[in-house]
Amino acid sequence: MIYLNGEWMPIEKAMVPVLDRGFIFGDGVYEVIPCYSGHPFRLREHLTRLQSSLDGVRIDNPYSLARWDELVREMVVKNPMDDQYVYLQVTRGVAPRDHAFPKGAKPTVFIMSNPLTTPPQEQRERGVAAVSAADNRWLRCDIKSVSLLANCLLRQVAVDASAAEVVLLRDGRLTEGSASNIFLVRNGVIITPPKTNFILPGITYDVVIELARANRLPLEIRQVSETEVRDADELWLTSSTKEVLSISTLDGIPVGHGSAAGKPGPVAAQMHQLYQDYKRTVMRAPVKA
Ligand code: PDD
Repeated sequence: MIYLNGEWMPIEKAMVPVLDRGFIFGDGVYEVIPCYSGHPFRLREHLTRLQSSLDGVRIDNPYSLARWDELVREMVVKNPMDDQYVYLQVTRGVAPRDHAFPKGAKPTVFIMSNPLTTPPQEQRERGVAAVSAADNRWLRCDIKSVSLLANCLLRQVAVDASAAEVVLLRDGRLTEGSASNIFLVRNGVIITPPKTNFILPGITYDVVIELARANRLPLEIRQVSETEVRDADELWLTSSTKEVLSISTLDGIPVGHGSAAGKPGPVAAQMHQLYQDYKRTVMRAPVKA
């Protein structure tokens, strides 16, 4: 069952008018919330980011935080899959085509859930290939907008090169992936770029930083040069659906040095384990916590 503008229905029955500004202009925002054994992961944080995205594009939030919370939990109950990700989207609504904001349009709210398949063990053990690309997206990458054309084009660059993700560089600096944040390890130090308008403030990014701090792992949040990316000992991508996943080659060149090159490194393995342990504490929590 999906949720569309106040009604629950099978996805085949869900229809949006062609003049919806999400369809015409990509004028909307979204969230992807992983749910493990029926427990939404970091729901409050996802809903807070939704509010920031709505503020960023000047759409009034159609629901209260409590209502969103209820809807996401209802979605999980109605779709009893073990692990799933709830996708929710708010657009500016339906109006005659005009770039300027329509007066009195009602935001369109759509929520669905899909099975969540985290990377298989084989991928975790071997890592995935990535290619670099120039980050040619707009300057508000901090907004989780449904206007994802640039991200789709960039992801396809990776797919065309038989790679899983692109590592984006803007003016000689690392930003993020097409649908993930990027971390690297150099001389035992975990390094990732700061939250600016150039990257999406990832929820997984936050969890990884919290876990690094809680476990006293050396961490630097700072600008990262392209040279550092190419010379990293370890390179990881993080997202709600991929969790913490090692990148084993960048542009066909093995990541890392010496005999460890091209294989996921020890810090990635440690962080992956910390992430799994943390997830388990969340999954044991009472559903309404
Ligand atoms: N993408 N950066 C971009 C551009 C993203 O699209 C995503 C997530 C992330 C990681 O954010 P989080 O840890 O909150 O998932 C970073 C989601 C999964 C998607 O679009 O499907």
